[in-house]
Amino acid sequence: MKTSTTTKKGCATTTDCTTTADGRLTAAPTEFIPQCSTSPEVAYKMVKDETYPQTQPRLNLATFVTTYMDEYATKLMNEAVNINYIDETEYPRVAVMCGRCINIIANLWHTPEKAEWKAGALGIGSSEACMLGGVAALLRWKARRKKEGKSCEKPNIVLSSAYQVVWEKFAQLWGVEMREVPLSLKCPSLDPKKAVAMCDENTICVVPIAGVTWTGLNDDIEALDKELDAFNKKTGYEVAIHVDAASGGFILPFLKPDFKWDFRLKWVYSISTSGHKYGLVYPGLGWVVWRDKKCLPEEMSFSVNYLGANITQVGLNFSRPAAQILGQYYNFIRYGFEGYKKIQQESMDIACYCHEQIGKMKCFTNYAKTLDNPLFIWYMNPEYDKTAKWTLYDLQAVLQQSGWMVPAYTMPKDIEDLVVMRVVVRQGLTRDMADMLLTDIRNAVAEFDKLKYPTSSRIKYEKQEKQYGKVFTH
Ligand SMILES: Cc1ncc(COP(=O)(O)O)c(C=O)c1O
Repeated sequence: MKTSTTTKKGCATTTDCTTTADGRLTAAPTEFIPQCSTSPEVAYKMVKDETYPQTQPRLNLATFVTTYMDEYATKLMNEAVNINYIDETEYPRVAVMCGRCINIIANLWHTPEKAEWKAGALGIGSSEACMLGGVAALLRWKARRKKEGKSCEKPNIVLSSAYQVVWEKFAQLWGVEMREVPLSLKCPSLDPKKAVAMCDENTICVVPIAGVTWTGLNDDIEALDKELDAFNKKTGYEVAIHVDAASGGFILPFLKPDFKWDFRLKWVYSISTSGHKYGLVYPGLGWVVWRDKKCLPEEMSFSVNYLGANITQVGLNFSRPAAQILGQYYNFIRYGFEGYKKIQQESMDIACYCHEQIGKMKCFTNYAKTLDNPLFIWYMNPEYDKTAKWTLYDLQAVLQQSGWMVPAYTMPKDIEDLVVMRVVVRQGLTRDMADMLLTDIRNAVAEFDKLKYPTSSRIKYEKQEKQYGKVFTH
């Protein structure tokens, strides 16, 4: 039965509403909604087939985001797939669970807050959580400035140039100047003294990172806190810290309980993390917690009173999936502190094993001697690099042929000439898989070593070197 004769570009070419039984002749819509319906089997197949050639999520070592949850967690989340978190009247227990998750996380981070419900919020990821932390800092600063009768025109935020892109978004969207502390190979994390030297009366906060995206290292938050304390005492300002603990927020409490990075430090007013990274929940889930209610400006929050007490709610989005909250709460019950510790330690052990093995390969040099988090980066050994006929981009491409996603990239500003490769170890990457990856890397290097002529990426790299001088000075 012909019901449509549309020939619009990009529309399904068939005009036959019955389509073929297996959909083989049905073109995928690219611009316009198809005129006719398609059977669920065919529609499913078309969508599924589209994703078929992608990397297997578990072999994706580029992402920090959870790609494995156990059967019960998956079942629980699938069963809640049709629940909107914001419909709290219909699903009040989800809101309670969310409040409990915030309490649990706040206590893992040593909140001094005595109230029954801690000041926090969930986000769709760390990005939303960071934004909320940033907005709170901006509003606190504005309130102080207004009280003092001073201008609110030029807020700034101080962070290292290894910030994650969310901070650029925050700065642009809210009109905040970004002051970047440059990195160097000698000082690959935020330099606390340099950071404080950039602060002034218009600084809304300083953002150190626990689990720097580019390197996996932690900024020295305790040293920063000390510097800021002296600075605030001297100036009378109240420049506080927002810790972007996208990865570290769920690593440090379990693996480095004595390491002070959280609310044990005086000037840490807020912390954000990703529930969907080392919180071990499928995407998207983020959390932000404030030191106490005083750090969370009132205009960001609204209260509901049907949870047995007043509970504060904050967020950029309105509707959002509830399933992730169930997944997070399930994980807390299922694993407990000891379970999380064991999982994070296992990831750390596998990362350390890979780090050690990579360090033994003569063509590579590890960026850091030790690991702060279960991820690490390495670059081409400078001596080997002098005669190499390939680059890390070639290695990325070869590994991709076996399904691995191990990204090669250039470092951030100031050390942007350095090309590195990164592995992020998450729950689900077994020792056996790590060995498979290492074998694939060794095999690829053995083949590269046989090359008589440079690869095209090597030619491009050397051309740049000639044009701009040494691409990277070791
Ligand atoms: C340090 C840091 N902050 C923020 C983010 C953004 O996290 P999300 O993807 O959860 O929004 C990331 C993501 O990798 C990150 O590494």
